[in-house]
Amino acid sequence: YNADTKGMLKALWELPEQCARAWELGMAAAVSPLDDLRQVVVTGLGGSAIGGDLLRVYAAQRLDVPVVVNRDYVLPEFVGPHTLVFAVSYSGNTEETLSAYAQAREKGASLVVLTTGGKLGEMAKNDGVPVITVPGGIAPRSATGYLFIPTLAVLYRMGLLPDLSHEVAECASLLQSIREELKPEVPRDSNQAKMLAASFHNRIPVIWGSSGTTEVVAQRWKGQINENAKAPAYWNVFPELNHNELVGFEFPGELLRRLYVVILRDPQDHPRVQKRFAITREIMESAVAGVVEIMARGSGALARMYSLVYIGDYASVYLAMLYGVDPGPVRVIDTLKARLA
Ligand code: PA5
Repeated sequence: YNADTKGMLKALWELPEQCARAWELGMAAAVSPLDDLRQVVVTGLGGSAIGGDLLRVYAAQRLDVPVVVNRDYVLPEFVGPHTLVFAVSYSGNTEETLSAYAQAREKGASLVVLTTGGKLGEMAKNDGVPVITVPGGIAPRSATGYLFIPTLAVLYRMGLLPDLSHEVAECASLLQSIREELKPEVPRDSNQAKMLAASFHNRIPVIWGSSGTTEVVAQRWKGQINENAKAPAYWNVFPELNHNELVGFEFPGELLRRLYVVILRDPQDHPRVQKRFAITREIMESAVAGVVEIMARGSGALARMYSLVYIGDYASVYLAMLYGVDPGPVRVIDTLKARLA
C-alpha cells in the first residue's frame, strides 16, 4: 500500500456529512416553481453525470415527469420552455456541458447550475441563472452528494417531490455506520471493501445491478474502478443481461477465469429478477473467478442506493492501493481534454 490515497479517503470518510450539507445547499438555491413542467434533464459527464442517473432512478416512481440524463454536447430535441435542465460540472469547464448549457439557454429551458465555479459558474452568473456552488478541492466523482442531493431539494422546493430531509438524514446516518466497517483501520477479513478489492486485483470486475435502484450503482462501481484504480471494469443490468451477456459465459477457456462478478441487490428487486439472480449464478458461477452478492441496506431508496455506492467507492480506492496508483488524478482524461483544447 504505497499510493497517495489520503485525499480520496478523506473525501470518502466525509461523504455522510457531504450528503447532509448538500441538502441544505439545494434548499438555499434561488429557485421558484415552474408552470407546466414536462421533463427534467440533467446534463453532465463522468463524475458530474452519475448524480443525474441517481436522480433518474430515484425519481422514477416519485416524479410525474421523466428525468433524462444527457452526456453530450447536444441536448435532446424535446428540450424547450417546459424543461428544467440541471447543468452539472464540478470544474465548470467541461466543454460538452458548456455546449449543452448554451443550447438550453437558446431553447428557453429553465436552468439550474451545479458547479464549483469555472466558465459554467461565470456564464450562469452573467445570465442570471441560479447557481448552486458546491465546495471545491475534491475529485468530481467524490462529490456525488453535492452534485446530486441538491437536485432533490430543488425539486422539493418546486413542489415536484416531497420533503426528503428525513431520507437524507437516514442516508447520512447509515453511511456513518458503514464507514466504520469500511475504514482503512478495519482489517481485510472483516472489511467488505478490502475483500472486494482483493477479489478484483489482477482480475476484471463485472458489476451487475437490476433495473430497480441498483442499475445506477453498478454503473457507478464501474466508473469508480476505472477512475480510482485506473483499471478496467464492466457493468450490466438484469433482466436485460439474461438476454445476451449470459450467453457469453458459455465461452470455453481461461478468459472467463479473469472475471469477478458482483451482483448488487435491493430487497425491493422484482421477485422475478430475484429468481433470475439465483438461476444466472447457477449457470455461470463455475466459469468465473468468483461471484458475490451484496444486498442494499436502509429503508429509503436514497439510503439503499448510497449504502451500495459507498462499498464500491471504498473498494475502488483499496484496489488503487493494491495496484499502487494514486486514485485522485485522472491524467489520461486531463491529457485528452488538453489535446481537444
Ligand atoms: O470524476 C472525474 O474526474 C471525471 O469523471 C469528471 O467528472 C469528468 O471528466 C467531467 O468533469 P467535470 O465534473 O469537471 O465536469
